[in-house]
Amino acid sequence: MSSEPAIEAHGLRRSFGDVHALRGVDLVAPTGSVLGVLGPNGAGKTTAVRILTTLLQPDAGTARVAGLDVTKDAQELRSRIGLAGQYAAVDEYLTGRENLAMVGRLYHLSPSQSRTRADELLAEFDLVDAGGRVASTYSGGMRRRLDLAAALVVRPPVLFLDEPTTGLDPRSRNALWETIEERVSEGTTVLLTTQYLDEADRLADRIAVIDHGEVIAEGTSDDLKARVGGSRLEVALEDPTQAEAARAALGPLAEAGADVGVDGSRLSVPLRSDAGGVVAAVRRLDDAGVAVSDVTVRRPTLDDAFLTLTGRPAEDATDDAEVPA
Ligand SMILES: Nc1ncnc2c1ncn2[C@@H]1O[C@H](COP(=O)(O)OP(=O)(O)O)[C@@H](O)[C@H]1O
Ligand SMILES: [Mg+2]
Repeated sequence: MSSEPAIEAHGLRRSFGDVHALRGVDLVAPTGSVLGVLGPNGAGKTTAVRILTTLLQPDAGTARVAGLDVTKDAQELRSRIGLAGQYAAVDEYLTGRENLAMVGRLYHLSPSQSRTRADELLAEFDLVDAGGRVASTYSGGMRRRLDLAAALVVRPPVLFLDEPTTGLDPRSRNALWETIEERVSEGTTVLLTTQYLDEADRLADRIAVIDHGEVIAEGTSDDLKARVGGSRLEVALEDPTQAEAARAALGPLAEAGADVGVDGSRLSVPLRSDAGGVVAAVRRLDDAGVAVSDVTVRRPTLDDAFLTLTGRPAEDATDDAEVPA
Protein backbone atom coordinates (compact mmCIF):
# COMPACT_ATOMS: atom_id res chain seq x y z
CA MET A 1 0.00 0.00 0.00
CA SER A 2 1.39 3.37 -0.90
CA SER A 3 0.13 6.60 0.58
CA GLU A 4 0.24 8.30 -2.80
CA PRO A 5 -3.06 10.05 -3.53
CA ALA A 6 -5.25 8.22 -6.05
CA ILE A 7 -5.46 11.40 -8.15
CA GLU A 8 -2.79 14.08 -8.21
CA ALA A 9 -2.39 16.77 -10.85
CA HIS A 10 0.10 19.63 -10.94
CA GLY A 11 0.05 22.68 -13.16
CA LEU A 12 -2.21 21.25 -15.87
CA ARG A 13 -2.50 23.54 -18.85
CA ARG A 14 -4.40 23.04 -22.05
CA SER A 15 -5.44 25.43 -24.78
CA PHE A 16 -7.63 24.98 -27.84
CA GLY A 17 -6.45 27.63 -30.29
CA ASP A 18 -6.66 30.81 -28.28
CA VAL A 19 -9.09 29.37 -25.70
CA HIS A 20 -7.21 28.65 -22.48
CA ALA A 21 -9.33 25.82 -21.13
CA LEU A 22 -6.92 25.06 -18.27
CA ARG A 23 -4.42 27.61 -16.97
CA GLY A 24 -2.39 25.63 -14.46
CA VAL A 25 -4.68 23.39 -12.44
CA ASP A 26 -3.66 21.42 -9.33
CA LEU A 27 -5.96 18.71 -8.01
CA VAL A 28 -5.54 16.03 -5.40
CA ALA A 29 -7.79 13.24 -4.13
CA PRO A 30 -6.59 10.82 -1.44
CA THR A 31 -7.50 7.17 -1.98
CA GLY A 32 -11.08 6.44 -0.97
CA SER A 33 -12.24 10.05 -1.08
CA VAL A 34 -14.57 12.03 -3.31
CA LEU A 35 -13.18 15.14 -4.96
CA GLY A 36 -15.87 17.44 -6.27
CA VAL A 37 -14.81 19.70 -9.13
CA LEU A 38 -17.38 22.44 -9.10
CA GLY A 39 -17.64 25.07 -11.78
CA PRO A 40 -19.94 26.74 -14.28
CA ASN A 41 -20.25 25.79 -17.94
CA GLY A 42 -16.99 26.27 -19.79
CA ALA A 43 -14.88 26.35 -16.60
CA GLY A 44 -12.61 23.55 -17.82
CA LYS A 45 -14.06 20.57 -15.94
CA THR A 46 -14.37 18.20 -18.90
CA THR A 47 -10.93 19.16 -20.19
CA ALA A 48 -9.45 18.21 -16.81
CA VAL A 49 -11.36 14.91 -16.76
CA ARG A 50 -10.26 14.08 -20.31
CA ILE A 51 -6.62 14.65 -19.38
CA LEU A 52 -6.90 12.58 -16.20
CA THR A 53 -8.55 9.74 -18.12
CA THR A 54 -5.84 9.72 -20.85
CA LEU A 55 -8.20 10.95 -23.60
CA LEU A 56 -6.38 14.26 -24.05
CA GLN A 57 -2.77 15.37 -23.67
CA PRO A 58 -1.99 18.38 -21.49
CA ASP A 59 0.14 21.17 -22.99
CA ALA A 60 1.96 21.34 -19.66
CA GLY A 61 1.80 19.87 -16.20
CA THR A 62 1.78 16.34 -14.85
CA ALA A 63 -0.82 14.04 -13.41
CA ARG A 64 -0.80 10.64 -11.75
CA VAL A 65 -3.88 8.49 -11.29
CA ALA A 66 -3.91 5.17 -9.42
CA GLY A 67 -0.13 5.40 -9.20
CA LEU A 68 0.37 5.80 -12.96
CA ASP A 69 1.37 8.75 -15.12
CA VAL A 70 -1.52 9.81 -17.35
CA THR A 71 0.68 10.33 -20.40
CA LYS A 72 3.54 7.85 -19.96
CA ASP A 73 1.42 4.97 -18.62
CA ALA A 74 -1.80 5.77 -20.47
CA GLN A 75 -2.40 2.27 -21.79
CA GLU A 76 -2.07 0.56 -18.41
CA LEU A 77 -4.00 3.29 -16.64
CA ARG A 78 -7.11 2.77 -18.76
CA SER A 79 -7.83 -0.57 -17.10
CA ARG A 80 -7.76 1.00 -13.64
CA ILE A 81 -10.27 3.77 -14.19
CA GLY A 82 -13.92 4.11 -15.03
CA LEU A 83 -15.39 7.11 -16.82
CA ALA A 84 -18.93 8.32 -17.33
CA GLY A 85 -19.70 11.45 -19.27
CA GLN A 86 -21.24 12.42 -22.58
CA TYR A 87 -22.39 8.86 -23.37
CA ALA A 88 -18.78 7.76 -23.79
CA ALA A 89 -19.64 4.09 -23.60
CA VAL A 90 -22.98 3.76 -25.37
CA ASP A 91 -23.21 1.73 -28.60
CA GLU A 92 -26.25 2.96 -30.55
CA TYR A 93 -26.90 -0.34 -32.27
CA LEU A 94 -27.02 -2.51 -29.15
CA THR A 95 -29.87 -2.72 -26.68
CA GLY A 96 -29.38 -1.29 -23.21
CA ARG A 97 -28.93 -4.78 -21.78
CA GLU A 98 -26.45 -5.75 -24.53
CA ASN A 99 -24.47 -2.57 -23.95
CA LEU A 100 -24.00 -3.36 -20.28
CA ALA A 101 -23.28 -7.05 -20.84
CA MET A 102 -20.68 -6.10 -23.46
CA VAL A 103 -18.85 -3.90 -20.97
CA GLY A 104 -18.83 -6.83 -18.52
CA ARG A 105 -17.32 -9.09 -21.20
CA LEU A 106 -14.70 -6.46 -22.08
CA TYR A 107 -13.65 -6.50 -18.44
CA HIS A 108 -13.49 -10.32 -18.41
CA LEU A 109 -16.65 -11.11 -16.48
CA SER A 110 -18.18 -14.45 -17.52
CA PRO A 111 -21.25 -14.32 -19.81
CA SER A 112 -23.58 -15.14 -16.93
CA GLN A 113 -21.91 -12.65 -14.58
CA SER A 114 -22.17 -10.04 -17.32
CA ARG A 115 -25.89 -10.67 -17.78
CA THR A 116 -26.56 -10.59 -14.05
CA ARG A 117 -24.65 -7.36 -13.64
CA ALA A 118 -26.50 -5.84 -16.63
CA ASP A 119 -29.88 -6.69 -15.09
CA GLU A 120 -28.89 -5.28 -11.70
CA LEU A 121 -27.83 -2.02 -13.29
CA LEU A 122 -30.90 -1.77 -15.52
CA ALA A 123 -33.01 -2.03 -12.36
CA GLU A 124 -30.85 0.45 -10.47
CA PHE A 125 -31.14 3.07 -13.22
CA ASP A 126 -34.79 2.49 -13.99
CA LEU A 127 -34.16 1.02 -17.43
CA VAL A 128 -35.75 -2.40 -17.02
CA ASP A 129 -38.55 -1.70 -19.52
CA ALA A 130 -36.14 -0.15 -22.02
CA GLY A 131 -33.44 -2.80 -21.58
CA GLY A 132 -34.50 -4.72 -24.69
CA ARG A 133 -34.59 -1.68 -26.98
CA VAL A 134 -31.63 -0.44 -28.99
CA ALA A 135 -29.93 2.60 -27.51
CA SER A 136 -30.61 4.72 -30.60
CA THR A 137 -34.26 4.87 -29.50
CA TYR A 138 -33.38 6.20 -26.04
CA SER A 139 -34.11 9.74 -24.85
CA GLY A 140 -31.22 11.92 -23.68
CA GLY A 141 -31.93 11.11 -20.04
CA MET A 142 -32.06 7.37 -20.73
CA ARG A 143 -28.73 7.45 -22.56
CA ARG A 144 -27.25 9.36 -19.71
CA ARG A 145 -28.40 6.66 -17.29
CA LEU A 146 -27.13 3.89 -19.54
CA ASP A 147 -23.74 5.59 -19.80
CA LEU A 148 -23.53 5.85 -16.01
CA ALA A 149 -24.55 2.22 -15.62
CA ALA A 150 -21.81 1.22 -18.08
CA ALA A 151 -19.21 3.00 -15.94
CA LEU A 152 -20.39 1.01 -12.94
CA VAL A 153 -20.36 -2.51 -14.43
CA VAL A 154 -16.96 -3.27 -12.96
CA ARG A 155 -15.30 -1.74 -9.92
CA PRO A 156 -12.20 0.15 -11.02
CA PRO A 157 -10.27 1.77 -8.15
CA VAL A 158 -10.73 5.28 -9.56
CA LEU A 159 -13.97 6.53 -11.03
CA PHE A 160 -14.43 9.75 -13.02
CA LEU A 161 -17.97 11.05 -13.34
CA ASP A 162 -18.32 14.12 -15.54
CA GLU A 163 -21.51 15.94 -14.56
CA PRO A 164 -23.18 12.61 -13.83
CA THR A 165 -26.54 13.99 -12.75
CA THR A 166 -26.99 16.83 -15.23
CA GLY A 167 -30.35 16.12 -16.85
CA LEU A 168 -31.26 13.26 -14.51
CA ASP A 169 -34.61 13.06 -12.79
CA PRO A 170 -34.50 13.27 -8.96
CA ARG A 171 -35.09 9.54 -8.51
CA SER A 172 -32.14 8.51 -10.71
CA ARG A 173 -30.05 11.22 -9.11
CA ASN A 174 -30.65 9.75 -5.67
CA ALA A 175 -29.97 6.22 -6.89
CA LEU A 176 -26.67 7.37 -8.36
CA TRP A 177 -25.67 9.26 -5.21
CA GLU A 178 -26.28 6.11 -3.17
CA THR A 179 -24.25 4.02 -5.60
CA ILE A 180 -21.37 6.47 -5.41
CA GLU A 181 -21.45 6.46 -1.62
CA GLU A 182 -21.44 2.67 -1.60
CA ARG A 183 -18.42 2.53 -3.95
CA VAL A 184 -16.54 5.05 -1.85
CA SER A 185 -17.23 3.08 1.33
CA GLU A 186 -15.56 0.12 -0.45
CA GLY A 187 -12.44 2.22 -1.10
CA THR A 188 -13.08 3.62 -4.58
CA THR A 189 -11.78 7.11 -5.25
CA VAL A 190 -14.18 9.34 -7.16
CA LEU A 191 -13.64 12.56 -9.05
CA LEU A 192 -16.99 14.08 -9.82
CA THR A 193 -17.57 17.26 -11.75
CA THR A 194 -20.75 19.16 -11.14
CA GLN A 195 -22.50 22.47 -11.51
CA TYR A 196 -24.73 21.57 -8.60
CA LEU A 197 -23.83 22.74 -5.15
CA ASP A 198 -26.13 20.32 -3.35
CA GLU A 199 -24.38 17.46 -5.11
CA ALA A 200 -20.91 18.67 -4.12
CA ASP A 201 -22.15 19.38 -0.61
CA ARG A 202 -23.62 15.90 -0.21
CA LEU A 203 -20.93 13.77 -1.85
CA ALA A 204 -17.58 15.50 -1.88
CA ASP A 205 -15.00 15.25 0.89
CA ARG A 206 -13.19 18.16 -0.71
CA ILE A 207 -14.27 20.57 -3.39
CA ALA A 208 -12.15 22.36 -5.97
CA VAL A 209 -14.02 25.33 -7.43
CA ILE A 210 -12.82 26.04 -10.94
CA ASP A 211 -13.61 29.01 -13.11
CA HIS A 212 -12.00 30.12 -16.37
CA GLY A 213 -9.51 27.26 -16.23
CA GLU A 214 -8.23 27.97 -12.74
CA VAL A 215 -8.87 26.55 -9.30
CA ILE A 216 -10.15 29.59 -7.44
CA ALA A 217 -10.84 27.85 -4.13
CA GLU A 218 -10.30 24.44 -2.59
CA GLY A 219 -11.43 22.88 0.66
CA THR A 220 -14.25 21.09 2.40
CA SER A 221 -17.77 22.35 1.92
CA ASP A 222 -17.54 23.95 5.37
CA ASP A 223 -14.22 25.63 4.51
CA LEU A 224 -15.80 27.17 1.43
CA LYS A 225 -18.87 28.34 3.32
CA ALA A 226 -16.63 29.92 5.95
CA ARG A 227 -14.89 31.95 3.22
CA VAL A 228 -18.15 33.84 2.72
CA GLY A 229 -18.10 35.05 6.30
CA GLY A 230 -20.53 34.54 9.12
CA SER A 231 -24.28 34.55 9.40
CA ARG A 232 -26.62 37.24 8.16
CA LEU A 233 -29.60 38.68 9.93
CA GLU A 234 -32.55 39.14 7.59
CA VAL A 235 -35.33 41.47 8.68
CA ALA A 236 -38.65 42.19 6.98
CA LEU A 237 -40.33 45.44 8.10
CA GLU A 238 -44.07 45.97 8.27
CA ASP A 239 -43.58 49.57 7.15
CA PRO A 240 -40.80 50.44 4.68
CA THR A 241 -40.74 54.05 5.92
CA GLN A 242 -39.14 52.69 9.09
CA ALA A 243 -36.13 51.40 7.18
CA GLU A 244 -33.79 54.18 8.36
CA ALA A 245 -34.83 53.72 11.99
CA ALA A 246 -34.26 49.98 11.64
CA ARG A 247 -30.87 50.52 10.04
CA ALA A 248 -29.78 52.71 12.92
CA ALA A 249 -31.07 50.22 15.49
CA LEU A 250 -29.30 47.25 13.92
CA GLY A 251 -26.02 49.00 13.05
CA PRO A 252 -24.28 47.96 16.30
CA LEU A 253 -24.92 44.27 15.50
CA ALA A 254 -23.08 44.42 12.18
CA GLU A 255 -19.56 43.17 11.69
CA ALA A 256 -16.87 45.84 11.86
CA GLY A 257 -16.77 47.73 8.58
CA ALA A 258 -19.91 46.04 7.22
CA ASP A 259 -23.04 47.93 6.22
CA VAL A 260 -26.65 47.17 6.91
CA GLY A 261 -28.20 46.50 3.51
CA VAL A 262 -31.62 48.01 2.87
CA ASP A 263 -33.89 47.00 0.00
CA GLY A 264 -37.41 48.42 0.40
CA SER A 265 -38.84 46.80 3.51
CA ARG A 266 -36.02 44.23 3.83
CA LEU A 267 -32.78 44.63 5.73
CA SER A 268 -29.76 42.37 5.68
CA VAL A 269 -27.06 42.59 8.34
CA PRO A 270 -23.73 40.71 8.27
CA LEU A 271 -23.77 39.67 11.94
CA ARG A 272 -20.92 40.10 14.39
CA SER A 273 -20.25 36.65 15.85
CA ASP A 274 -21.07 37.91 19.38
CA ALA A 275 -24.07 40.01 18.28
CA GLY A 276 -26.69 37.88 20.03
CA GLY A 277 -28.71 36.91 16.95
CA VAL A 278 -32.46 37.16 16.66
CA VAL A 279 -33.11 38.00 20.31
CA ALA A 280 -30.77 41.00 20.33
CA ALA A 281 -32.15 42.20 17.01
CA VAL A 282 -35.79 42.01 18.10
CA ARG A 283 -35.03 43.83 21.35
CA ARG A 284 -33.26 46.66 19.55
CA LEU A 285 -35.98 47.02 16.94
CA ASP A 286 -38.62 46.99 19.68
CA ASP A 287 -36.79 49.72 21.62
CA ALA A 288 -36.67 51.81 18.45
CA GLY A 289 -40.41 51.32 17.87
CA VAL A 290 -39.86 49.45 14.57
CA ALA A 291 -42.53 46.88 13.63
CA VAL A 292 -41.25 43.75 11.90
CA SER A 293 -43.02 40.92 10.11
CA ASP A 294 -40.05 38.54 10.06
CA VAL A 295 -36.59 38.21 11.58
CA THR A 296 -34.29 35.30 10.73
CA VAL A 297 -30.61 34.43 10.87
CA ARG A 298 -29.27 32.79 7.73
CA ARG A 299 -26.07 30.75 7.81
CA PRO A 300 -24.00 30.80 4.63
CA THR A 301 -24.68 28.07 2.09
CA LEU A 302 -22.40 26.72 -0.58
CA ASP A 303 -24.46 28.85 -2.96
CA ASP A 304 -23.33 31.96 -1.12
CA ALA A 305 -19.75 30.71 -1.32
CA PHE A 306 -20.02 30.14 -5.05
CA LEU A 307 -21.48 33.59 -5.58
CA THR A 308 -18.76 35.20 -3.50
CA LEU A 309 -16.00 33.26 -5.28
CA THR A 310 -17.16 33.56 -8.88
CA GLY A 311 -19.24 36.72 -8.71
CA ARG A 312 -22.31 34.96 -10.09
CA PRO A 313 -24.89 32.49 -8.83
CA ALA A 314 -24.58 28.76 -9.50
CA GLU A 315 -26.87 27.19 -12.05
CA ASP A 316 -30.33 26.37 -10.81
CA ALA A 317 -30.31 22.62 -10.26
CA THR A 318 -33.84 22.29 -11.60
CA ASP A 319 -33.15 24.11 -14.86
CA ASP A 320 -32.48 21.18 -17.12
CA ALA A 321 -33.81 18.26 -15.13
CA GLU A 322 -35.07 15.39 -17.22
CA VAL A 323 -38.73 15.77 -18.07
CA PRO A 324 -40.59 12.68 -16.84
CA ALA A 325 -41.96 10.57 -19.69
N1 LIG B 1 -12.06 20.34 -28.35
C1 LIG B 1 -12.22 21.65 -28.09
N2 LIG B 1 -11.99 22.57 -29.05
C2 LIG B 1 -12.12 23.88 -28.79
N3 LIG B 1 -12.46 24.40 -27.60
C3 LIG B 1 -12.71 23.54 -26.60
C4 LIG B 1 -12.62 22.13 -26.80
N4 LIG B 1 -12.91 21.53 -25.62
C5 LIG B 1 -13.18 22.51 -24.75
N5 LIG B 1 -13.06 23.73 -25.33
C6 LIG B 1 -13.26 25.02 -24.67
O1 LIG B 1 -12.52 25.01 -23.46
C7 LIG B 1 -13.26 25.63 -22.42
C8 LIG B 1 -13.48 24.65 -21.30
O2 LIG B 1 -14.36 23.64 -21.76
P1 LIG B 1 -14.78 22.39 -20.87
O3 LIG B 1 -13.56 21.77 -20.29
O4 LIG B 1 -15.65 21.53 -21.71
O5 LIG B 1 -15.62 23.10 -19.71
P2 LIG B 1 -16.74 22.49 -18.73
O6 LIG B 1 -16.67 21.00 -18.83
O7 LIG B 1 -16.37 23.02 -17.38
O8 LIG B 1 -18.05 23.05 -19.20
C9 LIG B 1 -14.54 26.14 -23.05
O9 LIG B 1 -14.34 27.48 -23.43
C10 LIG B 1 -14.70 25.25 -24.26
O10 LIG B 1 -15.43 25.90 -25.27
MG1 LIG C 1 -18.13 19.63 -19.24
